[in-house]
Amino acid sequence: MENKLRIMSGMRPTGKLHLGHYLGVLKNWVNLQDEYECYFSIADWHALTTKYNQTSDMRQNVQDVLLDWLCAGVDCEKSVIYLQSLVPQTASLHIYLSMITPQNWVERDPTLKDLAKIMKDKQENMSNLSYGLFGYPVLMTADILTFNAHLVPVGIDQVAHVELSRDIARRFNNIYGVNYFIEPKPKLTQVPLLKGLDGNKMGKSFNNDIKLSDTSEITQKKVMTGITDRNRIRKDDKGNPDNCEVIYDYWKIFGSNEDLAMVCDGCKNATMGCAECKKRLAQKINDQLAPLREKRIELESDMKKVDEILHDGSKKAQIKAQEVLDGAIDVIKMYK
Ligand code: TRP
Ligand code: SF4
Repeated sequence: MENKLRIMSGMRPTGKLHLGHYLGVLKNWVNLQDEYECYFSIADWHALTTKYNQTSDMRQNVQDVLLDWLCAGVDCEKSVIYLQSLVPQTASLHIYLSMITPQNWVERDPTLKDLAKIMKDKQENMSNLSYGLFGYPVLMTADILTFNAHLVPVGIDQVAHVELSRDIARRFNNIYGVNYFIEPKPKLTQVPLLKGLDGNKMGKSFNNDIKLSDTSEITQKKVMTGITDRNRIRKDDKGNPDNCEVIYDYWKIFGSNEDLAMVCDGCKNATMGCAECKKRLAQKINDQLAPLREKRIELESDMKKVDEILHDGSKKAQIKAQEVLDGAIDVIKMYK
């Protein structure tokens, strides 16, 4: 355990996860668990930066994310799975880091600018943005540094934040003349980008996603709405998988080489209609999700245990976080 590199990553609890999250993030985390010492955070304080006035579903969202993680194979025996707000050391460290972070570093952060823009579009003026939202990347830095993590597996959209974390770690070390915080590196993995069924970016607000928690019936229904080759109107029109905007892309992700050959053949020779093709695809997806669904049923039958997993994980996280925080307090020379 001791000589493994540490990994830290997190997700905001904003609702049930979809196949894009599964393929793009969770599968990756699951694969890292053996090789690294992993800390995975449900970042509820980060959710609050934009949803501070919509908290009625917070608890539900935390549970949903946790269930999705566990079903997908994130394993509380191998990794530390915790809730950000149950590890208050993060907040202490955030205070110290906020003191040494130049304001213009935060203002420059491009991801934060995007987030701020979304908020600004929703609420008419900039002055409605909270102090906490501006602290977003500093809080994320606290998440990462509180475990002195070496690597942060994130999507490309979060890389700017991790770069800022490196800068803050370096600045801390420079200011106090120590080599205390490890400069964390983003860890990008090549993942197939899964479009939404309508061809746009997959996202719950577009209603074009398949949730990990959807039943096989719902999955099938959703797959049937997927965009195909728009020139293939009737079943006896010959189609072209290369022009099939969504469904064939899904086949490439969920099908074997034999499946792809079968689909190409049926499509190009018009021996298989799009409805049939989608039905078979839905079956493929459902086959792959079946073990996750079984696991969900098992977990949902004992939500007390699920809650315990999060509390136990948070206790484990606190131990490491306290150790790192104590060291930082010494370095800064705070009274203790
Ligand atoms: N900001 C990340 C996102 O929206 C979630 C997150 C919070 C995170 N804390 C983190 C990611 C620490 C990596 C490391 O996706
Ligand atoms: Fe797409 Fe399949 Fe229809 Fe061909 S048969 S256009 S691959 S959905």
